[in-house]
Amino acid sequence: MEDLVLQEYNKKGTILLAKAKTKFVCQNCGYVSPRYLGRCPNCGVWNQMVEEVDHPESAKAKATPSRRVSDLESKPVSIDNVSFEKEPRIKTDLSELNRVLGGGIVPGSLILIGGDPGIGKSTLLTQVSGQLANTGGKVLYVSGEESASQIKMRADRLDISGKNLYLYPQTDMSYIRQTINEMHPDYLIIDSVQTMDEPEITSAVGSISQIREVTAELMNIAKQDNITVFVVGHVTKGGAIAGPKILEHMVDTVLYFEGDTHHSYRILRSVKNRFGSTNEIGIFEMRTKGLVEVSNPSEIFLEERLADANGSAVVVSMEGTRPILVEIQSLITPTIFGNAKRTATGLDHNRVSVIMAVLEKRGNLMLQNQDAYLKSTGGVKLDEPAIDLALAMSIASSYKNMGIPGTDCFVGEVGLTGEIRRVNRIDQRVNEAEKLGFKRIFIPKNNMGDWSKDNKIQIVGVSTVTDAMNKIF
Ligand code: TYD
Ligand code: MG
Repeated sequence: MEDLVLQEYNKKGTILLAKAKTKFVCQNCGYVSPRYLGRCPNCGVWNQMVEEVDHPESAKAKATPSRRVSDLESKPVSIDNVSFEKEPRIKTDLSELNRVLGGGIVPGSLILIGGDPGIGKSTLLTQVSGQLANTGGKVLYVSGEESASQIKMRADRLDISGKNLYLYPQTDMSYIRQTINEMHPDYLIIDSVQTMDEPEITSAVGSISQIREVTAELMNIAKQDNITVFVVGHVTKGGAIAGPKILEHMVDTVLYFEGDTHHSYRILRSVKNRFGSTNEIGIFEMRTKGLVEVSNPSEIFLEERLADANGSAVVVSMEGTRPILVEIQSLITPTIFGNAKRTATGLDHNRVSVIMAVLEKRGNLMLQNQDAYLKSTGGVKLDEPAIDLALAMSIASSYKNMGIPGTDCFVGEVGLTGEIRRVNRIDQRVNEAEKLGFKRIFIPKNNMGDWSKDNKIQIVGVSTVTDAMNKIF
């Protein structure tokens, strides 16, 4: 510290504090520069360099957490001699959450939950805490955003009570650490990491060094005391968790809670999981009494479908290990003025452009002077190649003004020469479509030989987009 705060006497003899040394840190990636830069040279983001006081001492302290964790096993061990214990899993009442976590909560893990404001992060964690507290765990719910009475109000609405659930409105990490040492909770909830304050760090609450330090401290708490920590993280406008990417690198599991606030459905998606597969999703519905799981999502996404409507095609898409059926809708109308418009909701814009170009060139549909509006229903984001065929057929159906039978569904990737390419997990997709009462499924011809089961559903192999259109329309 002394070297930072240089003391100087001016002529009158009063003490002047020289300006402390500062640095500029990119709030997006953590890049450090001695002077202000408009654009971060590391990640290319504009206007994210924030001035922070240079703190060499804390920089040293910063390097420790991962070291402390690995101290126990500091010698190399032959892989044959490593004793392997299957991590025990704690199951919550929400089986959708258990699945997203890879089968339940791993004790001592640090789980980060990100999502837009108002999406239901606090609701989810209040429900989970209430339930964990009732099954014997001691839960400490630290909130930096709401007072104890506000949390209590929410808990009342959710019918949650219990003497093992402790509410603690606090933002100072040193007090939180002290409380943990005194009460030894089994679970710690931090709502949210951006409001927590590590008093040793001089930079503002919510800045990158604060978030990094707080997360490192939480990681310590999780690993040393074997406490399971749930951390809420706010997301930026772009949809990433606010703060640097390193936040996601430090924690064990990252879940995103998404869905738009206009729909009551919420999707919990795993994007990183040290203890299970990613790309699992859990689907919930926000009701007046909190979040309720949805165990058969396909029925919901297809619920309001008009039978045989023009421009509607159903796809069997895989979300993690689970097939879900979603309707893709297109509206193709002649362009009145200027360039043709292309709008896609819940679908990748580039994918839509490619499919339209393929239909134009290989399927002889005149789409260049047509506006195209596409969406996937129910607010689901579809992003896998296997949705291509349904996308193409939905566009063709709207363009030709010819409906697709409501009992048909599609899977298949479309190549640039108009060929339909094989997709993975075809048997699961076919079975799910059959289970939901579909009569016909169109799949890539190359996938036809992949199973030998007798299915009630009629399976049609198609080789090109033209072939598919001929068979449907
Ligand atoms: P909240 O969990 O506070 O969101 P976050 O912590 O992600 O910011 O949830 C806020 C929304 O959820 C709020 O708009 C009201 C709604 N809600 C319900 O519809 N039912 C409920 O039982 C609760 C507790 C909240
Ligand atoms: Mg909240």
